[in-house]
Amino acid sequence: MSIVRIAPSILSANFAALGQEVNAVLDAGADWIHFDVMDNHYVPNLTVGPMVCKSLREFGVTGFLDVHLMITPVNNLASSFIEAGANLISFHPSATENVSETIQLIKNSGVKVGLALNPDEHVSLIEPYLEDIDLVLMMSVFPGFGGQKFIPEVLENVAKVRSLIDAIDRDIALEIDGGINQETIGKAYAAGADTFVAGSAIFNTSDYNETISKLRKSINA
Ligand code: DX5
Ligand code: ZN
Repeated sequence: MSIVRIAPSILSANFAALGQEVNAVLDAGADWIHFDVMDNHYVPNLTVGPMVCKSLREFGVTGFLDVHLMITPVNNLASSFIEAGANLISFHPSATENVSETIQLIKNSGVKVGLALNPDEHVSLIEPYLEDIDLVLMMSVFPGFGGQKFIPEVLENVAKVRSLIDAIDRDIALEIDGGINQETIGKAYAAGADTFVAGSAIFNTSDYNETISKLRKSINA
C-alpha cells in the first residue's frame, strides 16, 4: 500500500481568511481539503454550510474537497454540497434514515461517497456498504472539535477495515481523522490508513510546507 494523502481539516484554519488558507495548504503539498461540517445537533459544535464551499470554488480553489458531514438529517445538505462543488461527501450511517439511499443520492450525482465510523462504533455498521463506497473515514477522536487527543484503540478497527478493503476489488480510501500529528501518523499508516486528516497539527504551525513534509516523513520514521 503506497498511497499517502494528507488532508488538512479547515476546522483549525483561520476562517477569516479561509480561501487564502486553503490555497496555502494546497500549494504546500496537501492532497485534499477536509471540510468539516457540523450542525450542533449530530455533534455539539457548529461550523459552515454549502455556501462556504461554493465561495471557495468562486474564490478559485480547484483542489479536492473532501466534505465530512457531521449532521443529521443528511440528504438535503448533501445535495446542496454536491451543487456547491464537493468532490467527495462522507456521512455517519447513524445520521441518516436509509444509508443506501443517501449513498445512491451522492453517487448518482457523480460525487464520491464515504461512510464515517466513530471510535465507539462497530465495523459491521459500514461493512454491508463497502462495495458501493469510495472511502471509509475512521474517527480517531469523538467528532465535534479539533485539537483532541488521538484514541489509539481505534487502530484495531482501522486494521480490520484495511483487511476488508483489501479483500474486495474496489479502490476505497481509508481515511483517519482526529489527533493526527507527527507522533500518531506512523501508527495510523502501519494499521492500514492511507489518507490522513490533520487540522491543528497543520494550521497551528507557521510553515505549512515544512509541516506537511514532516508529516510525510513521520510516516516512515
Ligand atoms: C473532528 C473533525 C476532525 C478534526 C481534526 O470532529 O472531524 O476532522 O477537525 O482535527 P485535529 O486534526 O486538530 O484533531
Ligand atoms: Zn472530519
